[in-house]
Amino acid sequence: MPQRETWATRTGFILAAVGSAVGLGNIWRFPFAVGQEGGAAFLLVYLLFVVLIGFPAMLVEFTLGRRTQKNPVGALAQMGGRTWKLVGLVFVVTGFTILSYYSVIAGWTIRYTFASLTGAYTADPEAYFGAVSVGFDAVAFHALFMVLVIGVIALGVRSGIELAVKFMVPAIIALGIGLAAYAFTLDGAGAAYQFYLSPDLDVLAAEWQSILPAAAGQAFFTLSLGMGVMITYSSYLAEDRNLASDGAIIIGFDTAIAFLMGLILFPFLFTAGVDPGEGGPGTLFISLAAAFAELPAGNILGAVFFGTVAIAALSSAISLLEVPVSYVIDEFGVDRMTATLGVGGLVFVLGLAPALDLIFLDLFDLFADAILLVLGGLLVSIFVSWIVPDEALDELQKGIGELGSIGTAWVWAVRIPVVLVLAFSLYLGIVGYIEFLTTDFADWLG
Ligand code: PHE
Repeated sequence: MPQRETWATRTGFILAAVGSAVGLGNIWRFPFAVGQEGGAAFLLVYLLFVVLIGFPAMLVEFTLGRRTQKNPVGALAQMGGRTWKLVGLVFVVTGFTILSYYSVIAGWTIRYTFASLTGAYTADPEAYFGAVSVGFDAVAFHALFMVLVIGVIALGVRSGIELAVKFMVPAIIALGIGLAAYAFTLDGAGAAYQFYLSPDLDVLAAEWQSILPAAAGQAFFTLSLGMGVMITYSSYLAEDRNLASDGAIIIGFDTAIAFLMGLILFPFLFTAGVDPGEGGPGTLFISLAAAFAELPAGNILGAVFFGTVAIAALSSAISLLEVPVSYVIDEFGVDRMTATLGVGGLVFVLGLAPALDLIFLDLFDLFADAILLVLGGLLVSIFVSWIVPDEALDELQKGIGELGSIGTAWVWAVRIPVVLVLAFSLYLGIVGYIEFLTTDFADWLG
């Protein structure tokens, strides 16, 4: 069997992880969660969760990956035996499912990049979205996007992922800063910043039951936790470097870019007089398209914006495909090209459902994001903190040195707060899913 690949540089690993973290979650989910869940009050809770829950949970995945140098299934099998191996399989299924609809949405962003230039949606953004979001058009752009993802992953860790993110991540940052600077000059910027940045603590007091789980879920999704990406990426680390500082850098970038996206989106929407409170993937495309139709030089602006989103989606999607591909390569001894084409092809087929009917987008998204992701994150956190804490701590200390009470604090932060928050979110996720199945989905069926 050929030697397992590793990252060429530390920056390569960090960029790949940042590229995975920064994606559609930062762009549509985050600002719209802020919009829906009470503005700046949500932002505050979210930031708290990123640090208190996201950071320890990221180290859980890092220690597992680097210790075993294996894909999530192999990693859990090696450290926990047969039962825990099943948790690894949850990760593989999650990545597979998320990618299938993530690619459909990403396909829309490619479509919108071109549509902005030609002004295709200016006359009627809602009708335009209705026409291109499902059916042949959606399938075609889903296919195009999957070809790009497959292309990168087929090239491998160094010449595929690492090379791609070296261009993509700086591009996202540069374009994001440029767009934010432009947004700053717009008429609606003042009102937008007010809405986005001044927390109303009364809102928090009144709505914490919905703000807390939404913030926890967002923190997990945006950091690419709970589905084995960080296990897989850290398994390609050849040397023992400081995992805690790498994690802090990755989280810092992801948070900064999510924050920046709010500084871009809200001025756009406020200036064009579009309501920022409406969420969801579809509404994002409709509201923003409406904003670009109003704004000066909106077609160029729109193309730059949607182009940036497409790049961010691509750098996340490659990490989603890498999880099942690394599993197939490691566990079945298949070569990378075959594994990538096989898994990527199956993801494409699964994605036909959401590309042909949006009900499947909700069905897949709710299941993968509100249940599978949280379940995977919960089980792996229990495993690392309760079953193998000593080995994990030993791994974390490599490249850092004796952690003493800080190490103990990490283990306990995972054992109680992380586990409790995830268990609670899982409960809410299941309740929400049952509700969806018995209402919207039942309507669709019947
Ligand atoms: N973090 C990505 C985003 O914010 C989504 C993602 C989740 C990617 C899980 C990989 C794994 O869009």
